[in-house]
Amino acid sequence: MGSDYGKSDPRPKKTVEFSQVENVYQIRYDHLNSAGRLFGGQLVAWIDEVAGAVALRHTGLNVTTASIDNLTFKRGAYLHDRLVLLGRMTYVGRSSCEVRVDSFIEDKEGFRRAINRAFLTFVAVDGNGRPTMIPYGLEISGISEQARWDGALLRRLNRSSRKDMGF
Ligand SMILES: CC(C)(COP(=O)(O)OP(=O)(O)OC[C@H]1O[C@@H](n2cnc3c(N)ncnc32)[C@H](O)[C@@H]1OP(=O)(O)O)[C@@H](O)C(=O)NCCC(=O)NCCS
Repeated sequence: MGSDYGKSDPRPKKTVEFSQVENVYQIRYDHLNSAGRLFGGQLVAWIDEVAGAVALRHTGLNVTTASIDNLTFKRGAYLHDRLVLLGRMTYVGRSSCEVRVDSFIEDKEGFRRAINRAFLTFVAVDGNGRPTMIPYGLEISGISEQARWDGALLRRLNRSSRKDMGF
């Protein structure tokens, strides 16, 4: 189970900060749907891109997206909005890892309004596309990082029961 990869993880560790990625996107006409809002598929592509960069930095290996969880669109985004995506590693297992991506609209003064939160699982793969061991564990410091790790373990458990249900 994933909990085997907590404090007793024998691998060398990287911090959450090491792989953190923050990207800024300016919303243009070609990002909009017919209702004049940001096209959801475009946001998902950016989320996947940011999360993939986090997973790559942490693992140093080729990674593939295995699943995207809990993609909740809280608010829309519109033309000329400045979108900030922040990706952080929450959990590292044997060959898989989970990245949380928070999406915000940022105003001119830097104040942020959350519009989306997503959790993505990546699997490190070898040259044949098969899962392979991630060489680094995750160093957890502080209660926020611990809470994110604990949440990731719960999501991992949920994913495994959803798999049993045929999702
Ligand atoms: C992801 C993939 C490599 C997993 O291969 P697999 O043989 O099913 O993997 P295993 O059952 O051996 O599990 C390996 C790890 O992946 C995790 N995993 C597998 N499927 C998963 C899923 N759907 N969601 C989350 N984690 C998953 C397992 O929990 C395990 O984690 P651990 O090593 O940290 O304990 C394979 O399913 C694949 O290639 N999928 C297509 C990926 C892809 O093309 N993505 C781009 C989409 S456009």
